[in-house]
Amino acid sequence: MRYISSLALLAPLVSARPPFKGVFLEKNSDLLPSYDYVVVGAGAAGLTVANRLSEDAATTVLVIEAGVFDKNEDYVTIPGLAGGAVGTVYDWNTTYAATESVANRAISIPQGRVVGGSTKLNRMVFDRGSRSDYDRWETLGNTGWGWDSLLPYFKKNEKYTPPNEYMVSEYNATFDASAHGSDGYMHVSYAPFVWPTTKTFIDAVKEVGISISEDQANGNALGGFYCPHNQDPTTETRSSAREAYWNTVETRTNLHLITGQQVTRVLTSAKNNAVCVTGVEYAPAKDQPTSSVKVNKEAILAAGAIFTPQILQVSGIGDPAHLSSINVSTVVDLPAVGHNFHDHVLLTTVNSINAPLVQSNLTSNATFAAESLELFKSQQAGPYTDPTAAFLVFLPLNNFTTEAATIHEQAVSQDPAAFLPSDTPAESLKGYQAQHDLLNAKIITPESAVLEYIWADGAVVVGLEHPYSRGSVKAASASTFDAPIADAGFLTNPLDLAILVEGVKYMRTLMKTNALATFQPFEVLPGANVTSDEDLGNFIRQSASTLFHPAGSCMLGAREEGGVVDSELKVYGINGLRVVDASMMPLLPASHTMTTVYAVAEKAADIIKGI
Ligand SMILES: *[C@@H]1O[C@H](CO)[C@@H](O)[C@H](O)[C@H]1NC(C)=O
Ligand SMILES: *[C@@H]1O[C@H](CO)[C@@H](O)[C@H](O)[C@H]1NC(C)=O
Ligand SMILES: *[C@@H]1O[C@H](CO)[C@@H](O)[C@H](O)[C@H]1NC(C)=O
Ligand SMILES: *[C@@H]1O[C@H](CO)[C@@H](O)[C@H](O)[C@H]1NC(C)=O
Ligand SMILES: *[C@@H]1O[C@H](CO)[C@@H](O)[C@H](O)[C@H]1NC(C)=O
Ligand SMILES: *[C@@H]1O[C@H](CO)[C@@H](O)[C@H](O)[C@H]1NC(C)=O
Ligand SMILES: *[C@@H]1O[C@H](CO)[C@@H](O)[C@H](O)[C@H]1NC(C)=O
Repeated sequence: MRYISSLALLAPLVSARPPFKGVFLEKNSDLLPSYDYVVVGAGAAGLTVANRLSEDAATTVLVIEAGVFDKNEDYVTIPGLAGGAVGTVYDWNTTYAATESVANRAISIPQGRVVGGSTKLNRMVFDRGSRSDYDRWETLGNTGWGWDSLLPYFKKNEKYTPPNEYMVSEYNATFDASAHGSDGYMHVSYAPFVWPTTKTFIDAVKEVGISISEDQANGNALGGFYCPHNQDPTTETRSSAREAYWNTVETRTNLHLITGQQVTRVLTSAKNNAVCVTGVEYAPAKDQPTSSVKVNKEAILAAGAIFTPQILQVSGIGDPAHLSSINVSTVVDLPAVGHNFHDHVLLTTVNSINAPLVQSNLTSNATFAAESLELFKSQQAGPYTDPTAAFLVFLPLNNFTTEAATIHEQAVSQDPAAFLPSDTPAESLKGYQAQHDLLNAKIITPESAVLEYIWADGAVVVGLEHPYSRGSVKAASASTFDAPIADAGFLTNPLDLAILVEGVKYMRTLMKTNALATFQPFEVLPGANVTSDEDLGNFIRQSASTLFHPAGSCMLGAREEGGVVDSELKVYGINGLRVVDASMMPLLPASHTMTTVYAVAEKAADIIKGI
């Protein structure tokens, strides 16, 4: 029988355990009247910063989270069910605006609304980008944000377990001990099971001459590599921001967390020409009265690249024209808020294959699924330990297409302004021009990956790692209870489409290897009849989705170049306000973003503490 790998979500299997309660405040009236730091959002960034700031017992920290605690449902904890919390009560159910460049489809962009944030929803890929990805942040003028400055924080976050016996004996997995940390809060390890077709894919990768990296963590995340996950090596369950940074410090009485409260505004005052933060306002629901808490030192926005700019805008920090259109008075004239928004494009291609053991056996064979679940629960072994994506491939342009020189030529002759949103402010345009030059310089170099391939039993996910396209995030009204208009600008720049077209062709090269031919692959998507660049382009516009890495909407950079935060992540024009989440990234790294968000947050905590 032929199998088509399904990327569809597996049915949730709920086993209720009591929710965790530490210094978790159930009622508004339990809050102190003021806190030194108020952190907005209990995701990867927010919980990391809150944990580190509260190491000093004399410092009071409050985290405000709109969602609730999960109940350790199987679909949250078991790696083989990862992604199962998408579309549940733990998800904001956000979508990108439907635009012509993606055939007018509203692409869903899950965002965690739960303690732990999107680290409870995702597929647990725990990788870093390459040195070149972070060094370009520094090249853009952001001193202290290159690879060498971030590496200590990547390490600080980790409690790393090297490849286990299975990964070494079956896959020859290697690692570079010097790139890892062992004292951090976050479990990082390799699953004791990998779906067997992965081995054949690795053979195909070697057959076409792609190199295998010793370790993605040491600044060389290029070629193929074994990818660790945020997974506890003893229980084999997910290690999310909640398990790592909250559960471990539950006894700290100076760290408070309130759930079920959505931040509605940052409160500010203007004295002697200086604007400063005075408090944070929140409410449990749109029609409920708001409450507020005073901020002694700082408010820290960690609500993610979609909600952080929205909160700034409804608080009067943004583009005066946009703010007046939503009936918000301008407090700080900072037009770049919400601009430079971008995300990795995900494209799913599918081949049906003949193979004896594939992921979809879990969904098609109830006996096998039940046995596998029992194996997971009794021995922490078997298919459910694998969150998938055990082996990833990241390729420079020259390594997957002979059209690299042509694409580079198109890039350097392109007017950077030509494909930006029409309301891009002058400072954001200036910043983008510098980014465009840098993207052009890097696109033909061997140390910069522009494409990612993820193998899943014949399905090959193609990821666009350094998009040229930009969109924006805009509050739709003065209320944070109305979803912001988020547009990642997918495929608005034709360079992104051209790169993906070449990416699909190279997927076919991989499928034609002797190694993969043993599966007798049959191309289902896009389909063997889709061959011309135009037809491939249409397929891509009609099926492109997100790799779930929204970023860049409150970028780190000079104010006159579209920066919203300075090199200490302080928002320009206001005292006592920082942004610590993926919003700050000027350019996405060629990597899944969770690991980088942790490193950024660990570094931010030291900056705030003055270390
Ligand atoms: C997201 O959708 C799920 C399923 O319909 C629902 O239970 C949940 O409340 C929604 N989330 C929000 C924030 O509305
Ligand atoms: C591991 O290394 C051995 C010896 O070099 C080789 O025969 C085998 O194919 C390798 N396996 C993988 C999965 O790379
Ligand atoms: C890209 O191709 C070059 C030249 O063939 C090769 O040396 C290099 O290892 C390849 N890079 C990767 C990541 O496979
Ligand atoms: C702004 O206020 C006006 C007048 O009250 C109202 O008609 C309009 O709908 C408001 N706009 C938004 C986006 O809330
Ligand atoms: C898994 O699926 C393959 C392909 O259909 C089939 O040959 C095999 O018997 C299945 N194995 C199990 C355990 O269900
Ligand atoms: C389903 O799984 C069971 C247990 O692994 C296996 O014995 C059986 O052959 C599988 N059925 C099919 C149709 O592959
Ligand atoms: C390819 O074939 C499919 C199925 O017959 C058809 O729906 C599709 O329109 C064809 N695409 C092109 C570009 O010919």
